[in-house]
Amino acid sequence: MFKISISFSPLRHNLQDSQLRDTTLAPEKTSIGRRRFLGAFAATAAVGLPLSGSAAVSRLPTPPTDTSPSALAQDESFWSEVATFYDRTTGVVNLEHGYWGKMAHPVQDAYIDATRMVNAQNSFYARKQFETDEKESVRRVARALGVYDDEIVLTRNATEAIHNLIRQYRGLEAGDAVLSADIDYPHFKTAMQWLEGARGARSVELIIPPRAGQSQILALYRDTFDNNPDIKLMLLMHVSNQHGLVLPVARIAKEARKRGIDVICDTAQSWGLLDYQVPSLQVDWAGFNLHKWIGSPVGVGALYMRRGSLEKVAPYPGESDPEDTLVSTRVHVGTSNFAAVLAVPHALNFHEAIGAANKEARLRYLRQLWTTEAESMSHIELLGGRDEESWSGMGSFRLAGRRSAEDVTALQQRLEHEFGVFTVIRKGLASGYCVRITPQVFTTPDNMAQLVDALKRLA
Ligand SMILES: Cc1ncc(COP(=O)(O)O)c(C=O)c1O
Repeated sequence: MFKISISFSPLRHNLQDSQLRDTTLAPEKTSIGRRRFLGAFAATAAVGLPLSGSAAVSRLPTPPTDTSPSALAQDESFWSEVATFYDRTTGVVNLEHGYWGKMAHPVQDAYIDATRMVNAQNSFYARKQFETDEKESVRRVARALGVYDDEIVLTRNATEAIHNLIRQYRGLEAGDAVLSADIDYPHFKTAMQWLEGARGARSVELIIPPRAGQSQILALYRDTFDNNPDIKLMLLMHVSNQHGLVLPVARIAKEARKRGIDVICDTAQSWGLLDYQVPSLQVDWAGFNLHKWIGSPVGVGALYMRRGSLEKVAPYPGESDPEDTLVSTRVHVGTSNFAAVLAVPHALNFHEAIGAANKEARLRYLRQLWTTEAESMSHIELLGGRDEESWSGMGSFRLAGRRSAEDVTALQQRLEHEFGVFTVIRKGLASGYCVRITPQVFTTPDNMAQLVDALKRLA
């Protein structure tokens, strides 16, 4: 067992990726060869946690450098090694990974170690050191998202980030309109509708067809803006939790900006599922979580507010920010999960070791394995993208013409009990209910084949 005797060592704040990599131990020869090497990594070098036991030396996946993400997406030996970093759901093929992301072993180990340390050191740690350590987690999040540290504040989830933006938005006057879409996250739609009673705003809902492509979606938003010139604030989904539809956020945001509409972007489901950085979205405000596709412990989210954009969103009640420069004042979390925040750099290390582009390509590939087959089944209605740009790793379906809660509940139950495939029902689309399918990086093509077989037998 690897033990470090010190009780706590401060973070190293200025480590670059290359320095993190310098701590990599010599490659082990595996049966699959050197390029499959899973680099051993001293976790203490990343975040300075007092480690003992399993987290003391963490290994990370090392994808080959000479293979494109699309080629690597089909390299089963690499992905089966990635899968060794995870414990699997037993008793069923779990295709419901849109709820939260499972921690990989190095992240779980770091989290358990951090929990022990925080519990042992208690207020002595929390009062003296946590603020510094949290700054390191913020720095890593900001770096991964391609933004400045002072544009990020950690929250407990995406809901906290986005609800604060909606509630604290101060750009509305009675008679203004606010926009959401049927594909938006249901609790955010209701929060936008709440602005009707709270601020006298008119709530407008845009309906997006069950399958849609990029230019079609853009045209729908443009028409809605033109037909509702009183819209002042809108919710804009990046990847829909309903069916994994990817929206052309930057293009819609550009149209919104031209008309003076403020945009709250819901990036809860997109970061880590897709490979991107915030500047490419061209939005001022976004709400993330790290417990879905970044694989942190449950209980970590982030609010992004572009420098210079804070004036229209009031500080959290009781907080003060006369110059409107402090994003940290837009949230007040109180006592929260210290250990989860400490595990963030570990989650990002693991995510970045696989590579965001590789992960996106693999998840798309797994989704294609079932959607391409489903396209040709007349008894299945597929929901999501019309073109590959509009698809992500997630997708949804239902039996043709069977859109009610009862129909889709029965479908989900049959998949689980007759075919051993666990999924989830999504409600909220104007077109009706659907079953969502969400693979993860450890999902195998055999798992997807089991789903395809079930789909065929549902005829
Ligand atoms: C699109 C979308 N937005 C927001 C949320 C809420 O995220 P959280 O649970 O981190 O608050 C979810 C969660 O499923 C989601 O899928």
